[in-house]
Amino acid sequence: MTDTPWGIDERLELARGLAGRAGDELMRWFGRTLDVDRKGAVDLVTDADRAAEALIARGLADAFPDDAFLGEETGRSGPADAPWCWVVDPLDGTTNFVHGLPRFAVSIGAWFRGAPALGVVVAPAEGHVYAGATGRGATRDGEPMRVSTTDALGDSLLATGFPYDRRDTVDALLRPLRSAMLSGQGVRRMGAAALDLVDVARGAFDGYWEPRLSPWDVAAGVVLVREAGGVVTGPGGRPFDPARPDIVASNGHIHAALVSALACD
Ligand code: IPD
Ligand code: CA
Ligand code: CA
Repeated sequence: MTDTPWGIDERLELARGLAGRAGDELMRWFGRTLDVDRKGAVDLVTDADRAAEALIARGLADAFPDDAFLGEETGRSGPADAPWCWVVDPLDGTTNFVHGLPRFAVSIGAWFRGAPALGVVVAPAEGHVYAGATGRGATRDGEPMRVSTTDALGDSLLATGFPYDRRDTVDALLRPLRSAMLSGQGVRRMGAAALDLVDVARGAFDGYWEPRLSPWDVAAGVVLVREAGGVVTGPGGRPFDPARPDIVASNGHIHAALVSALACD
């Protein structure tokens, strides 16, 4: 049985409130002409990312000043030895957002002693709130959600994403993609990792993989998948590392087959 970390319920409620407010903030910017800065050749950041992260960071620090914080736009802050560390992606799916596609989310996760312990993902343009915590289950708009029951890779809808170093690594990315295209029912590339994990947790996708993500992309989503009955590992079925996420997530039934299809080198 999993031990539930102390203080988890208060933190889950806070994360839910802040993710909702950050989602409202993103909607104020969505559809407007934005100044877009580049963190890399294809890695974008806007005033909306920064405004949402500032709102979340302020709210977390006010309520839990002794917790650590790791945010995509502002990096690490707070005590290095804090048991709780918030891991925040204020806008997951920035490229979609900039192009007017409504597939984007606020993702607030928290690690307890380095392990993902709670997560809230809000998809403001789609109007859904996903929340979960270790030992507490996972919900969509307050209703329990579960992974799919699909048990054959050939019947599985899969999803993936391509990391920002893809211009240098394209051949290595295409090998598992090809294998998944040939062994599954279809492969989607939707552009927001937090929501790809949500879609595994709610049973829309049967499996998802993506190499070289960042902690904030997946901190919330992995909790949702696990609490919805799914499985999260690294490639080859190795243990998942939340600090350097190379992820394979699934409903559990197809996990071994998916891991083996992806290890096609
Ligand atoms: C990105 C999205 C995308 C994934 C990238 C991420 P961002 O996050 O989740 O789906 O393929 O690897 O970096 O930059 O939009 O927060
Ligand atoms: Ca992200
Ligand atoms: Ca982001």
